[in-house]
Amino acid sequence: PKQNTLAVIKHEAMEQHRETILEEIRDRGFSVTQQKEMVPSRELAEELYKEHKEKPFFNQLVDYMCQGPCLMLVLTKENAVEEWRVMMGPSDPAKAKETSPESLRARFGSDILQNSVHGSSNVQHAEEEIQLIFGDISTEEELSNT
Ligand code: CMP
Repeated sequence: PKQNTLAVIKHEAMEQHRETILEEIRDRGFSVTQQKEMVPSRELAEELYKEHKEKPFFNQLVDYMCQGPCLMLVLTKENAVEEWRVMMGPSDPAKAKETSPESLRARFGSDILQNSVHGSSNVQHAEEEIQLIFGDISTEEELSNT
């Protein structure tokens, strides 16, 4: 069965790497089923990253996410959540360079904060994050079919 995951191209990667990342996403067999460019509001960034609310880097993370336009994507494929995580590589680009040099974060991330891309950590989070950014997709599809 197909799965959805939320992928975000973060602002520091948008200018130089956006097209490469989109091309590689399609080459790996994902369908881009929703797409939206936006500068997240503080409220949205806080909600997106609520699982990290207690972390020492939370405020820095929210500040950074609001600093420029991000590309929000819904990627659809079998096992999409896990496959997008593999494509991104580890959160820390320094670690990614050692363990998975082909990964997006190894090639395009600068440091553990500015790591170029985001992906949902599990199926439950994927559903919540997609709902937050895009609203109820299945309802929209039903509406457009009538
Ligand atoms: P992302 O996959 O978007 O999910 C959480 C984000 O928090 C992560 O990528 C980084 O941008 C950021 N992050 C994770 N760990 C740290 C850290 N130790 N210091 C600063 N930012 C971090």
